[in-house]
Amino acid sequence: MTQFARQSLHLTARLVWFGGLVKYGRRLGLSIPKWIMRGWFNTVSQVTVLGLGEEVTCLNYGYADTTPDQHSSSAPGNTTSLRLYGSLVDMLGANALADRDVLEVGSGRGGGANFIAETCQPRRMTGVELSPDAVSFCRNHYEAPNLQFRQGDAMCLDFPDESFDVVINVESAHCYPDFGAFVAGVHRVLRPGGHLLLTDCVRATRMPRFRAALHSQPWAAHQETDITDNVIAALIADSDRKTRLIEKTGLPSIIRRHLRELSACAGSRFLSRFQSRALLYTSFCFEKAGGGEIVEV
Ligand SMILES: C[S@@+](CC[C@H](N)C(=O)[O-])C[C@H]1O[C@@H](n2cnc3c(N)ncnc32)[C@H](O)[C@@H]1O
Repeated sequence: MTQFARQSLHLTARLVWFGGLVKYGRRLGLSIPKWIMRGWFNTVSQVTVLGLGEEVTCLNYGYADTTPDQHSSSAPGNTTSLRLYGSLVDMLGANALADRDVLEVGSGRGGGANFIAETCQPRRMTGVELSPDAVSFCRNHYEAPNLQFRQGDAMCLDFPDESFDVVINVESAHCYPDFGAFVAGVHRVLRPGGHLLLTDCVRATRMPRFRAALHSQPWAAHQETDITDNVIAALIADSDRKTRLIEKTGLPSIIRRHLRELSACAGSRFLSRFQSRALLYTSFCFEKAGGGEIVEV
């Protein structure tokens, strides 16, 4: 048996095991323990490397413009996944991250953090991620001098109080069993006047609880934007390309089916749940009190 076949078999077993725990746990409305999420995302990271090599650096559903007006908007990035980051950063304005200390929680395979480090010129861009595999990928893959990655848990952020100006969170918060602990931790690590930029997909029925947890801290809510249509547009625009990539991998058909579903390709349950609005994709911007005016001397 070749090494590829052996690894494929091993990963198929892990994908079925962890995928089943996540899927049925969610269906039963249970909160998924951290060891399961870590095992799941480690497996996704390993499957991605085995099948697709190093080219997949983002693991989100993406963002596409839906009107000619939006087309001239500044949401930058040359892939729909990077445009999702661009649309989030846009909420603060073009140069708002320059010379700032920025933290991304749930940075995955680092494509978004690298994009921000290179295009927004923060003083320091730090990615924190639960999956050790994804963190070692990032450490070996990116070279921007202002960019660093750490393994860590969103629900107990291991940073001093008031150490960041902006916290970014992209399609990760729905994984946290204790979302309130994450929100409190973000408020703690933000400097006065600092911002949380968060975008994620949440079941419509869970949205009131999700929103209430976000509003539980003493900060100002600046923006809440439903971007479900933009995400659907991105998924449709990207579906053929993703399907072709997945089919080319040579991975067993059960893994390819999982990957098509996870990537929300045409015909997937995820895409139809967005289309029926059972799943909503929403972006939020919060500002911690106490920033005051910057006075030029
Ligand atoms: C769908 S991926 C998105 C990754 C990245 N933000 C992107 O857009 O490419 C979700 C990420 O959140 C990470 N994650 C899940 N639970 C976490 C936790 N408790 N602490 C830190 N990261 C977590 C996963 O390991 C995964 O890499």
